[in-house]
Amino acid sequence: MVIENFRLNKYIASSGLCSRRKADDFIKNGNVKVNGVVTKDFSLQISTLDKVEVNGKPIIPEVEKLYYALNKPVGFITSMDDQFDRPTVAELVKNIPARLFPVGRLDNDTSGLIIMTNDGELSQQLAHPKHKTNKTYLAVINGVISDKKLRTLKNGVDIGGFVTSPCEAEITKQTKTYSIIKITIHEGKNRQVRKMFTAIGFKVLELKRISIGNLPLGRLKEGHLRKLDKTDLELLKGNM
Ligand code: URA
Repeated sequence: MVIENFRLNKYIASSGLCSRRKADDFIKNGNVKVNGVVTKDFSLQISTLDKVEVNGKPIIPEVEKLYYALNKPVGFITSMDDQFDRPTVAELVKNIPARLFPVGRLDNDTSGLIIMTNDGELSQQLAHPKHKTNKTYLAVINGVISDKKLRTLKNGVDIGGFVTSPCEAEITKQTKTYSIIKITIHEGKNRQVRKMFTAIGFKVLELKRISIGNLPLGRLKEGHLRKLDKTDLELLKGNM
């Protein structure tokens, strides 16, 4: 874990308790204790390991919310640690000094867009079925798909005790041996896209997520991160 240091007044203000100037007043008036000792030093450097109290109440600084798009390569588990020591997305965000975690998951053998954040609230919102967040994938499947089968897929298929909702799907490339289908779903059942193609008699050879909500993966290289800004977040939330 990376420990950040803050000036005492900034540390108090970042908890949302008061402004930095008011924090200075508290410090000047002897209302602030650091690790149990009253201090009047405004610029004392505080780390997240220190215990700060104002008028006897502990201060919990607000952590800056961070959002990154990651292009997950095949072969990485969407988890911050793995009991079998397989490569995880944690390795791909190890240079970011924050406790990031993945929003939702992608299979080990799926590549593409995954959001890494320390914002639990956003993570829950995106995952909640009521928001029906769209997720778009490019699926390379074996063989040629007929219009009839594509229609069946789009109308919803039984993937074993669960019938998928109507979805969008279109052929983006078709050869004698394989087809590439762009498919957009809003549900998130385990291995859903693969199971949907199995239900109509195909095998998914490659799967890549190319957008979440209205946020595209774009040209982000595999294994690379891109920090998201306000506009990206609005795209991500899409129709929420
Ligand atoms: N559907 C799948 O089958 N796998 C994924 O990783 C995501 C969606």
